[in-house]
Amino acid sequence: MRKHPIINASGWDHLCRIEFTGETQMTQIRTVAVVVGSLRKDSASRKLAKAFAALAPANLKFDFVEIGDLPHFDQDLESDPPAQWTAFRDRVRPADAVLFVTPEYNRSVPGVLKNAIDVGSRPYGQSVWNGKPGAVISLSPGAIGGFGANHHLRQSLVFLNVAQFSQEAYIGNAFTLFDETGELVNDGTADFLRGYAAAFAEWIERIAPAAAAQKAA
Ligand SMILES: Cc1cc2nc3c(=O)[nH]c(=O)nc-3n(C[C@H](O)[C@H](O)[C@H](O)COP(=O)(O)O)c2cc1C
Repeated sequence: MRKHPIINASGWDHLCRIEFTGETQMTQIRTVAVVVGSLRKDSASRKLAKAFAALAPANLKFDFVEIGDLPHFDQDLESDPPAQWTAFRDRVRPADAVLFVTPEYNRSVPGVLKNAIDVGSRPYGQSVWNGKPGAVISLSPGAIGGFGANHHLRQSLVFLNVAQFSQEAYIGNAFTLFDETGELVNDGTADFLRGYAAAFAEWIERIAPAAAAQKAA
């Protein structure tokens, strides 16, 4: 496997396990359900997700799916699920792909995001995540970029049969990246996100035939 240098927001070179050629035809519109792991109004995660959407190839359309009003998952409610659960599942299910953008809480996934993962995973056998191509971007005001949250989330996504985009994205120093209007003002991060989005779009195309077959089955 050839080394594929990617510059992340901290300026480190790291390796991408899959080589992207840039040659895949990406003319078909693909919808990406975006799930943000922070509820606060001034969330850097949400700002980053919006910047990502703006920098992505034109064939990707982003649907920000809110998770703040989802009642806690409770198996006793499964026979008569809350309307918010059903609405959430119905929004994510038709998407061609999913993108998670999340901070780290206590070295793991924020509870609100884990709840959304659990809600989407049921009823048993009808998980909305199953077979979808998915990417994880984590961030932190600190230097580690939410690595712990990123990999705890990936652990759940392995179990949920998400076709995980292997390229890594840990965005450190997140509070320095945006101006007072919420615009991304760091050119290095913008370049990284642009490249990441292009590679994710290509990954979606690679997975699309298998995902379509799985949906039809
Ligand atoms: C309960 C809690 C736990 C946190 N734990 C971590 C942590 O483990 N690692 C870290 O880098 N930041 C941690 N932080 C700081 C968050 O990364 C920071 O609040 C971040 O901005 C949240 O993302 P947001 O701007 O999208 O809301 C924690 C914050 C809270 C509220």
